[in-house]
Amino acid sequence: MDKNQSKERIGKLKEWLKKWNYDYFVLDKSDVSEAARDQIKKELHELEDEFPEFITPDSPTQRVGSVLSGKFAKIKHITQKQSLSDVFSDEELTDWEERIQKLVPGEKLDFITELKLDGLNLSIVYEKGKLFKAVTRGNGVFGEDVTHTVRTMPSVPLTLRELDGFNLENYPIIEVGGEVFMSKNSLKKINDEGGQQFANPRNAAAGTVRQLNPAVAAKRNLEMYFYSINIIPNTQYPISKSQIPIPNTQLETLELLQKLGLRTEKHYKHHTSLDTVLSDMKDWKKKRDSLAYEIDGLVVKVNSVRHQNLMGSTAKSPRYATAYKFPAEQSTSQILDIEIQVGRTGALTPVAYLKPTQIAGSTVSRATLHNEDEIRRKDVRVGDTVIIQKAGDIIPEVVEVLKDLRTGKETPFKMPTKCPVCGSEIERPDGEVVSRCTNPSCYAIHQQQLEHFVSRKAFDIDGLGEKVIEQLISEKLIEDAADLFELRYEDLVQLEFFKDKKAQNLLDSLEVAEIISAPRFIYALGIRYIGEETAEILADHLQLETHEIEIKAEQKRDQMTLFSEEPKSKKVAVAEIGNLIEEIQKLTLEDLNEIDGIGDKVADMIYDWFNNSENVKYLKKLQYVGIKLLSEKKEGKTDKLKNQTFVITGTLPSLSRDKAKDLIKLNGGKATATVSKKTDYVLAGTEPGSKYRKAEKLGVKIIDEPEFLNLIK
Ligand code: IVH
Repeated sequence: MDKNQSKERIGKLKEWLKKWNYDYFVLDKSDVSEAARDQIKKELHELEDEFPEFITPDSPTQRVGSVLSGKFAKIKHITQKQSLSDVFSDEELTDWEERIQKLVPGEKLDFITELKLDGLNLSIVYEKGKLFKAVTRGNGVFGEDVTHTVRTMPSVPLTLRELDGFNLENYPIIEVGGEVFMSKNSLKKINDEGGQQFANPRNAAAGTVRQLNPAVAAKRNLEMYFYSINIIPNTQYPISKSQIPIPNTQLETLELLQKLGLRTEKHYKHHTSLDTVLSDMKDWKKKRDSLAYEIDGLVVKVNSVRHQNLMGSTAKSPRYATAYKFPAEQSTSQILDIEIQVGRTGALTPVAYLKPTQIAGSTVSRATLHNEDEIRRKDVRVGDTVIIQKAGDIIPEVVEVLKDLRTGKETPFKMPTKCPVCGSEIERPDGEVVSRCTNPSCYAIHQQQLEHFVSRKAFDIDGLGEKVIEQLISEKLIEDAADLFELRYEDLVQLEFFKDKKAQNLLDSLEVAEIISAPRFIYALGIRYIGEETAEILADHLQLETHEIEIKAEQKRDQMTLFSEEPKSKKVAVAEIGNLIEEIQKLTLEDLNEIDGIGDKVADMIYDWFNNSENVKYLKKLQYVGIKLLSEKKEGKTDKLKNQTFVITGTLPSLSRDKAKDLIKLNGGKATATVSKKTDYVLAGTEPGSKYRKAEKLGVKIIDEPEFLNLIK
């Protein structure tokens, strides 16, 4: 970017940030996350660092705090409200510890961790034990009076509990701090009702406490957890240690809050060093979804109040605490180009190529745009600044365009009318969102099919990456997957990627792979709609004729008993692919439709695929090159759970989820993901998710691990 472009960009970024601040803090209606906002702010900072001449006093980088909305009475906080510093990695957290340790040399520090609830910070003042005022954080000095809505919340007591024979009349002024939030369920309920929509629990909580009408707030199930207390001495209410137990530690604070009848979040924990904080953080990254409410990290606090006071604070935040936040799952970036990718079923997917950006700890430079309709709906153009999102293992996607940042030079994307790889016609059937290449021998389809065929859950062949497959095709050594099994050492060693040893290794893996279970085989064919599960259902339904053959021990990999102790060769029962073709062709469309777990669309697809002469030719070729289907006579198979459907939730004491699922299937039952009236049992462990509540609501039987094991004993 040159100087002029930077100036223009700085202007746009500032405008955008001002609007975001207003939407978020004043109107409580921004859909754009704080993480995305932070990224824009960072870009502004960087540009301003590069061109300090463009910094203006009104730049959002030049001020702290937020705007007040003006609807409610402003109240001056008794003590100024600070915010927390944050850290995003183990290193940053240990740096924080090092810094604060220096402020209290020689003192042994201990810590409390609390969950960082994603809600709204609130101060509540009790006078003579009675709720007097509830005030939002506001700009830290002045907040808004939201007493009228907070009074409707069941988790906020109107009167504090009396401490051991202590008279409420003698209570000093007590100011407590905590987080107002909305559970995931309540938030969903409100959004499902179709009225005002909230993007996250924080917005929902803010939007609700700042309702003028308390009746609306009363209906919305707001909740509150408390985490701080400030006992205020003054002449009217003198306090002495004998009257109220002033906490010496954060642990005592939490206990005192509970004694006063103020709820604390129950997952707080005492740590004698940061080691356990680091390991807990790892656990919470995985466990957070099982909570009924959203959290965005852990708050780490020095336990001793004496230490806290010695550490003091910076202009914005106390030094004794920091928020260890989960990695941001959203960020912003600019679209450099949009390209079309052709998948193994011929589907054309538009992909955005991005200026590399960090999301949740990894660098992202491509994001899916899904399909033509999505591009049009979001109005995505090359050159746009966009919000990118990544959650868990899923492919990053473009969520939204920041249209205010456009310069007018962005170019709209047009879906091609011909396949960008082979030039054939593209077809988009009525009612479908996906366009497809019509050429069954399109190079891209071949490539993707082959990559799928050798992938981990299919034939699982090592040493056959994208590049190698590309070369094998372009050197005309293979046309389809069957040709892989006829590759010769001489063919391979002459290739760029194969030195002597690699060639032999690949041939060895191919040999091991020749014997494969029927479900894996069906999955490997890469038929549209046939994922792992459907492949298994179909394979289970077939009665294949088997015969015994002798194999090398390591070829028996689908039966878990690999290698070593075993004899060098072994007899196993296998079926032929020809028999698989016959058995599937015997099934009519109606037969297929009746198989539990196979719907109309899938039945049609199976029927068409296995009755297509080109495909049958391909299957016969696979038989010819030596692929055999290993018959899986599983030990311990029973009918004890026949026709019974299970849903698993939470962490089981000894069984892993996969193990539990295997046991269900082995005993003839079915494991599914969602609870419905048809579910027979919910198998629940600790920290169960929403499935547990749904089961309770529907009256589905809930069992624990011992009860489950009893069923199959
Ligand atoms: S202690 C000086 N403890 O996080 C402020 N804050 O980023 C003392 N929060 O404004 C805050 N859970 O709204 C603290 N267990 C917890 C918290 C928590 C959520 C929020 C709070 C605060 C923000 C700071």
